[in-house]
Amino acid sequence: MRKLTYFVACSIDGFIGDPNGDASSFFQFVKDDFLHFITTEYPDTVSEEGRRILGLESAENKHFDTVVQGRGSYQLGLDANMPSPYGHLRELVASRTIEKSPHPNVEIVTEGLVDRIRELKAEEGGKDIWLCGGSQIAGELVDEVDELVIKTYPQVYGSGMPMFGSGFAIADFALDSVRAFDDGIVVRWYSRKR
Ligand SMILES: NC(=O)c1ccc[n+]([C@@H]2O[C@H](COP(=O)([O-])OP(=O)(O)OC[C@H]3O[C@@H](n4cnc5c(N)ncnc54)[C@H](OP(=O)(O)O)[C@@H]3O)[C@@H](O)[C@H]2O)c1
Repeated sequence: MRKLTYFVACSIDGFIGDPNGDASSFFQFVKDDFLHFITTEYPDTVSEEGRRILGLESAENKHFDTVVQGRGSYQLGLDANMPSPYGHLRELVASRTIEKSPHPNVEIVTEGLVDRIRELKAEEGGKDIWLCGGSQIAGELVDEVDELVIKTYPQVYGSGMPMFGSGFAIADFALDSVRAFDDGIVVRWYSRKR
């Protein structure tokens, strides 16, 4: 069974972006030992543009072979004229408004999102599935999430876009490990308790 992992960046108070989803205040922390961690252990989560800048074009995928985004998150790539922002992965985008995929590597999921995720998880072999975000899609898929990798940056937002845009429901997770980096970034790994 392949895992669905929500690998996400957030503030200390659990917001993945400002009220409009903008997470650019986190970018200043992506350097030194934390950048080394990302490029060596999670190069699969670096966008094509980031991989080009960092010389990671040929980096092997370590954890994921598939990425799932909502259209809100994918829109950032579209707006930057990057219709396949994670071309080193199989890309799925949930959208009811995009009628035709803008790129051959991108599968648009218009209906049956949860079923499609269950199909991906049931595939034999391969690597895990990265749930990139954003908030709305994570909220819809919260019951399918098997692992959380939460990169917490040392900022408080006060309000903003929540990690899961869903109604109140408690889901239990077990802490697997924690790593702290320079500048106060903390990464936590949690597994779903089923
Ligand atoms: N901090 C981080 O690590 C991180 C990671 C990713 C994203 N983000 C931020 O998150 C923000 C986007 O989050 P968001 O909550 O606004 O949007 P989102 O979850 O990325 O996408 C929501 C969209 O997905 C589509 N959708 C949702 N449920 C669907 C379903 N069941 N079937 C088919 N399509 C479905 C709809 O698209 P249509 O309107 O096209 O129908 C909906 O508008 C961005 O601003 C980004 O910066 C942050």
